[in-house]
Amino acid sequence: MQTIKSRIAEKIVSAVVQINAEAQLNAQDVAAMLEYPPDSNMGDLAFPCFKLSKVLRRSPVQIAAAMTELLNDAAIDTVEAVNGYLNIKISNTYLAQSVLPEILDKKENYGAQEFGKGKTVVLDYSSPNLAKPFHIGHLGTTVIGHSIKKLHEFAGYRCVGINYIGDWGTQFGKLIVAYKKWGNREEVENGGVDALVDLYVRINNAISGNEEIGIVADPSLADEARAEFHKMEMGDEENLALWRWLVKLSIKANDKIYQQLGITFDSYKGESSYTEDMPAQVAKLREMGLLKIDDGASLVDLSEYGMPPCLILKRDGSSLYPTRDIAAAYDRKQLYDFDKCIYVTSTQQILHFKQWYKVVELMGYDWYDKLVHVPYGTVSINGAKLATRTGNVVLLKDLFEAAVDKVRGIMDEKNPNLENKEAVAEAIGVGAIVFYYLTNNRIKDINFSLEEALSFEGNTGPYVQYTYARACSVLSRAGNVADAPVQITTEEEAALVKTLCRFGERVCSAIADYEPSYITRFILDVAAAFNRFYHNCTILGADDPAVRASRVKLTEATKIVLGNAFDLICLSKTEKV
Ligand code: ARG
Repeated sequence: MQTIKSRIAEKIVSAVVQINAEAQLNAQDVAAMLEYPPDSNMGDLAFPCFKLSKVLRRSPVQIAAAMTELLNDAAIDTVEAVNGYLNIKISNTYLAQSVLPEILDKKENYGAQEFGKGKTVVLDYSSPNLAKPFHIGHLGTTVIGHSIKKLHEFAGYRCVGINYIGDWGTQFGKLIVAYKKWGNREEVENGGVDALVDLYVRINNAISGNEEIGIVADPSLADEARAEFHKMEMGDEENLALWRWLVKLSIKANDKIYQQLGITFDSYKGESSYTEDMPAQVAKLREMGLLKIDDGASLVDLSEYGMPPCLILKRDGSSLYPTRDIAAAYDRKQLYDFDKCIYVTSTQQILHFKQWYKVVELMGYDWYDKLVHVPYGTVSINGAKLATRTGNVVLLKDLFEAAVDKVRGIMDEKNPNLENKEAVAEAIGVGAIVFYYLTNNRIKDINFSLEEALSFEGNTGPYVQYTYARACSVLSRAGNVADAPVQITTEEEAALVKTLCRFGERVCSAIADYEPSYITRFILDVAAAFNRFYHNCTILGADDPAVRASRVKLTEATKIVLGNAFDLICLSKTEKV
C-alpha cells in the first residue's frame, strides 16, 4: 500500500538523482527518514537533509535549497527549506482525490497490509493458570496478545491463537486438599469460580498462615497438596476426575470474560497435554550431552551465556515449566510450521524465555530464532502489588462488572430509552477497561487505578466509542447523498484526513514493535480531529449540497478508519450510545 511517506520518498529519490546521478538511495530508507513534525505549522512532513550529506557531499542547507526547486508532486502543496530541513505541506487535492477515495473504496480493508501473506504466526497468550483467580494481572496478556493477533491478521498472516492454559501443577493439589476438607460439590457447582477462589485463598492462608486474620501456618498441608498432585501424576482416577471437573469449571468461568472481550482461541492445548511429549525432548537433551545432574535434578548449564541453569527435571523426575514449553514449541512447529511463535507474558518471565530459547538453540532446532517473547509491565493496584495467594487481587469479572454498572447508571440518567441498553453498557464498560490498559506502552509497569479506569473524562474508551457513535448518527441522519467529489476547503477537514491517512503506517509500526498502544493513540488522534471537524464545520446543515455531501463522506471515512482500528484492540463498535 502506498502511504504518504512512501509517495514523498519516491519523489525525494528522483530529486536526489537529479542532483547526483550516481547516488544510490532506496525509497524505503528515505521513507523511514521522513518525520512528522510535532508542530504542524512547520509542515506535515519534515525531511532532515543532513541524512543525505554523505551521499551528496554537500551541506544540509545546500541540499535543502536544491531540493525545494526539484521536488514537485500533486501530493505536495509547498516545500520550504529551513535550517537544513525540508518542510513539506501535503496538498488538499491529494487528500481529497487520493486518500479519501481509497478509504471509501477499501472500507474494512483500509490500512490492511500484505507482507504477512503466506506466513503463519502462532500466538500464545492469556494462558492463565487454572484453579487460580483470573485477575487484573491477566488482563495484559489477554488484550495485548489478542491485539497483536488482530494486527498480524490485518497484515495477511495466518494466525493461530493458543490459550496455553496452566492446567497442571501443584495448585491443583492444593485445591483438591481444600475441596476434600471444606468443599462440597453442590456449593462449588453453584458458587462457580467464586467458590473455587475462596477455597484457593483459604488453603494458601492455611499453609502460610495469615497474622491479620489470626491463622497459624500449617506447612503439613503443603505436603498433603504435593501428595495429592503426585497422585494425579501417577494416574489416580479419583483425583483425575476431580481435576477434570475443576478444569472444566475454570474454563467456563474464564469463557465469560473472553466472551465479554470478544476473544476466541483456535486452540486450548495447555500444559497437561505435554506429559507424554516431554520424555522425547529430555532424551534428546541427554543424548546430546546437554543435561547435567545436580543434586539429583537435571538441568542445562547456561553459565557460558551468562544465565542461571535451565531446570529440566526435578529430583523426583517430575517435569518443569521450561520442559513443558520446549515440548509445546516443538509440537507447534510440527502442527503449524510457524514463521513466528509469539509468547505474551509479564516481564517477570523474561529470564524463563531467554533460558529455554537458548536450550532450543543448543538442541539444534533451526526454528529457535522464530520464537519471540513479548513481555509487558506488571500491574499493581492503587500502589499495592497483587497477591493471588492471599486473595489481594481484583478479579477481572468484578472489574468488568463495576465498569458496566457505572455505565448503566450513567445511561439510566442520560439515555434511559436506548434500545439494547444492556449490551451497550457492557460494550462501553468493558471497552473502558481495555482502552485504559492499552493506552500505556506495553513494557511500562502499570499502577492500575480503578478510579481512573472508570473515569469517563478525557482520553478514555467511552470518549472514543462515543465519537464513533457520533459519526454513525451523522450518517444515519444524512440519508442518501449525491455522489459528488470530495472537496477539502477548511483546515479541520484537511487535518482530519491527514490523520486518517497515517493508519497504515501505524499498523506497520505496531506490528514491528508489538505495540498495540500505537493504535490506541492513533484512535485518540482521530477522535480529536473528528470532533474538531464536527464542532467547527457544519455537516448536515451545510447550505451547499456539494459541501454537505463531501462532509458526509468525510464522516463515513472516519467511521471506517475508527472501526478498523477498534477491531484491532478489542473495542466494540458502538453505533448508538
Ligand atoms: N500460565 C503461565 C502463567 O500464568 C503463563 C504461560 C505463558 N505461556 C507459555 N508458553 N509459557 O504464568
